Amino acid sequence: MWHNNILETIGNTPLVKLNRLADEAGPLILTKVEYFNPGQSVKDRIALKMIEDAEKQGLIKPGGTIIEGTSGNTGMGLALAAVVKGYKCIFTTTDKQSMEKVYLLRALGAEVKICPTNVEPDDPRSYYSVAKRLSEEIPNSYYPNQYDNLSNTQAHYETTGPEIWEQTEGKVTHFVAGMGTGGTITGTAKYLKEKNPNIKVVGVDSVGSVYLSYSKTGKFDKSQIAPYLTEGIGEDIIPGNIDFKYIDDVIQCNDADAFHTTRALAKREGLFIGGSCGAAVWGAIEYAKINKLGKNDVVVVLLPDSGTRYVSKIYNDEWMTQNGFLEPAWSPEATDIIKAKSTGMQQLLFTSENDSVDDVIKMMNEHNISQLPVKGADGFTGSINDSRILSHLIKEPTLKDVSVSKIMDKPFPEVTSQTSMDEITKLLNRGNAAVIVNMESGKHQIITRSDLIHVLTSSETS
Ligand SMILES: Cc1ncc(COP(=O)(O)O)c(C=O)c1O
Repeated sequence: MWHNNILETIGNTPLVKLNRLADEAGPLILTKVEYFNPGQSVKDRIALKMIEDAEKQGLIKPGGTIIEGTSGNTGMGLALAAVVKGYKCIFTTTDKQSMEKVYLLRALGAEVKICPTNVEPDDPRSYYSVAKRLSEEIPNSYYPNQYDNLSNTQAHYETTGPEIWEQTEGKVTHFVAGMGTGGTITGTAKYLKEKNPNIKVVGVDSVGSVYLSYSKTGKFDKSQIAPYLTEGIGEDIIPGNIDFKYIDDVIQCNDADAFHTTRALAKREGLFIGGSCGAAVWGAIEYAKINKLGKNDVVVVLLPDSGTRYVSKIYNDEWMTQNGFLEPAWSPEATDIIKAKSTGMQQLLFTSENDSVDDVIKMMNEHNISQLPVKGADGFTGSINDSRILSHLIKEPTLKDVSVSKIMDKPFPEVTSQTSMDEITKLLNRGNAAVIVNMESGKHQIITRSDLIHVLTSSETS
């Protein structure tokens, strides 16, 4: 058995039970994992449907150009369909989107234009406006407009809804999905509620979007609009595809909760998914807690896309830290390393340029140390360690009576009390046996490799 082309593999995605993230006493939570689609997202479903409906209506002709404003996933679905069906594609997207998404679209032969995020939707520079303008300018072009094209909702009514109904054998009690264009939630909800009007549908919105307040008041409140980083859900417009008549409850998720849940889904469930999936699962868990869902409830949560598109963002600790979602890793400074020394804060031991090698050996033995800074009239002028002494004495035993300045090595590098452990580690890795720390008090301290090991392994500081 085979498929005639890649488009025939769209849909029939699996339902996967949530295990570690779900409350044992709570409902059965099943995730509908849409990254099993060939374009790795739920949007393959609507892309194919919009194009096939346009073909039926004569809105697109062979060799035509598909133009769309897309955050990437719809573009990917449209690009796949365009490859198989022989159309050209031009996409407009915002500078908020992951570059991975843009590269993926270009890999499928699409042209991608990146537009500014923080402009009004009707601003001529917005990605909505640019897509619209291009579709008016380019002959034989088709602008699917996933926001207002009802083929979007219809695709979910015809595929996602029936799949969930069949896969749960009609046992689904709740359906939870993020709301972007609204097509997923509206189409799926419409089908499920026709099958069983008691099924509750919960929309997950992003903090900074107008949906939550609109769902409560029916009024568009511009003051709700604020920037956020979760891609794909929440809007600053009310698209034609969202119909709150099918949505019983709306829950808003912030970026931090969305992203931490996203990472937990990957690490604890093996579900390597995108940020709006984290928001949807967070929403489902919150809803289940607030509404005290129990053993008889079956909650289906739709996970729209794959984690591959977010590796440089949500799955990147540096990006997460820069955006305030992770605490910076603890990084001790020189002063912390000194305080943690097993010997405590002691006066710095050093030898003078004029001391004999024999004096130095005695001092090292007495204090059980293997290196010493050497001090001259103008500060530290050199350093000496036991292996250097040994190699000289083997060659010339009488050297023990000469002054240490004759055989000393270069001085240890000097750092301040605020120098980071990273910086100190680099210096010690460059062949320096120790660093001298110039303390604020004007005194000096020394840090060796064993001090670093001590600070990293002592229970007090780790
Ligand atoms: C990653 C992601 N999640 C969720 C959604 C929301 O789905 P819908 O547009 O059907 O409401 C989208 C839509 O663009 C999306 O790209």
